[in-house]
Amino acid sequence: MKNAGNNVFPIFDELLQKTDKEELLKQKSFTVWMTGLSGSGKSTIAKGLERYLHEQRFLTKMLDGDNIRVGINNNLGFSEDDRIENIRRIAEVSKLFINCGVITLNCFVSPTREMRQMAKEIIGTDNFIEVFINASVAECEKRDVKGLYAKARAGEIKNFTGIDAPFEAPTNAAVEVNTAELSIDASIQKVLNYIIPKIENN
Ligand code: ADX
Repeated sequence: MKNAGNNVFPIFDELLQKTDKEELLKQKSFTVWMTGLSGSGKSTIAKGLERYLHEQRFLTKMLDGDNIRVGINNNLGFSEDDRIENIRRIAEVSKLFINCGVITLNCFVSPTREMRQMAKEIIGTDNFIEVFINASVAECEKRDVKGLYAKARAGEIKNFTGIDAPFEAPTNAAVEVNTAELSIDASIQKVLNYIIPKIENN
C-alpha cells in the first residue's frame, strides 16, 4: 500500500451513500416494520426471517423491545407520549442501519396510525414496508406468553394495548399475516414472498 503522502487517502467531499453500502453487501436495504398486539407473533416471525435471510447471506438487524427498550429507550414507559418517543427513536436508529445497507426487522406494537406514519416519514416511504401481524386480543390473551394480559386484566399493568389502551389496525399494510390461521412457517414464508424480490440486488 502506498502511504498517504502519495494521495492514497484523498479527502473526499462526499460521504459514501446507501447505494454504495448496498452494492458492497449485494442487497437492497429497507425496514420491515411489523406492527401488532403483544403476543401476536412479531418477534417469532422476525427471528425466522432473520435466520433464513442470514442463510441466504443477507445482512439484517432485528430490532425489538428486548434490545431497544432495555437499552437506548430504557427511560421510556407506555404512556402515549413515551410510545411516540419510543417509535421516533426506533425509526431514527432504523434509518442509520438502512443507510448502512442493512435490512432491519422491526417488531413493535406501534399501536396508532400516527406513530407508524411518523416512522414511515423518518425512514422514508420507499424504505418502509409495513407488515401487519394480525391476531385478535382474544387470541393473544389466550396465548399470553409473557403473562401480561392476565396482569393487565387484574389491573396490575395500566395502559396495556388491547385491554385499556388502543390498537389501530393498519388499513394499508403491504403484507398482512393472520397468525391464528397460519402456522409459524407459513407466516414467515408469506413475508419472505413479499420481501425477497425487493432485497435482491445482483
Ligand atoms: S410500543 O407501543 O411503544 O410500540 P413496544 O413494542 O415498544 O410498544 O413494547 C411492547 C411490549 O412491551 C409488549 O410486547 C409487552 O411485552 C411489553 N409491555 C409492557 N407493558 C405494556 C403495555 N402497557 N402495553 C403494551 N405492551 C406492554
